[in-house]
Amino acid sequence: MPVKIITKISLCQKHVDSLRKQGRTIGLVPTMGALHEGHLSLVKKARGENDTVVVSIFVNPAQFGPGEDYKKYPRAFAGDKKLCEKEKVDIVFCPAAGEMYPGKDLTAVNVEGLTDKLCGRSRTGHFKGVCTVVSKLFNIVKPHTAYFGQKDYQQFLVIRKMARDMNFHLKLRMCPTVREGDGLALSSRNRCLSPKERTEARCLHRALESARYLIKTKRVSGAGLIISRMKAIINEQPGARVDYINICDPETLEDVKSVKGKVLVGLAVFVGKTRLIDNVVIS
Ligand code: PAJ
Repeated sequence: MPVKIITKISLCQKHVDSLRKQGRTIGLVPTMGALHEGHLSLVKKARGENDTVVVSIFVNPAQFGPGEDYKKYPRAFAGDKKLCEKEKVDIVFCPAAGEMYPGKDLTAVNVEGLTDKLCGRSRTGHFKGVCTVVSKLFNIVKPHTAYFGQKDYQQFLVIRKMARDMNFHLKLRMCPTVREGDGLALSSRNRCLSPKERTEARCLHRALESARYLIKTKRVSGAGLIISRMKAIINEQPGARVDYINICDPETLEDVKSVKGKVLVGLAVFVGKTRLIDNVVIS
């Protein structure tokens, strides 16, 4: 069966209502397209667990700030469609911006607290845009289960909180980060890197691995010391600039001074003009 491409909200809702009536389970993988093996790992997981797999492809203007890369964000629909066909996706839901946001006024969904930290601190309004679009997608696709990646760890926690607080009746799954051979986390934005920047971008993973080594092997517990070592690794690269590095509680995202039990080490780094994020959970 070829993948069904749906661009209209009402058609998508009609279609999923009829699937639900037939007792079929629906798995949703929300994406902004320019698909890579990270996205496809979520699709494969969804394929294994559901009767119907829906991939949404929508570059969501509401989650980009004024000076950010909405216009330059990679778009690759023809390739994405082929990849979805190969993975036996049933439906690609790919609305135009005007279909999702028909007017200027919009009801927005905002999660407080968790969104003040890490990426939320440097990207004001970003998670409000994410929560708004994801809640719309949940209402349009009505999935039994939705799939997200650990690469966007904070995004997962924020969406989980939103789903609980707004009583969305679905399960959420977090899937492990898929990496290149040299450790760089796959990201649609990697397509924006020049060959030199691509080499420099290895510093994100190197910095995270140094944190792991300091904590696990050297038994270093001072977060300040670990962060300064990580910064030094990133600053060795002339084209790289730290946006943030945080060592925090993996549930509340509150910074820790001293590493005890499980921590999330998360970072965002500009490599040239491209902002990349990555994280590891260390216990
Ligand atoms: P996007 O960046 O396209 O990512 C879509 C999903 O793929 C997210 O859940 C993300 O965590 C996951 N993903 C990305 N890179 C990954 C990797 N290397 N390994 C595993 N999973 C990976 O995240 C968004 O889009 C948007 O914010 C969205 C949720 C679609 C809302 O607009």
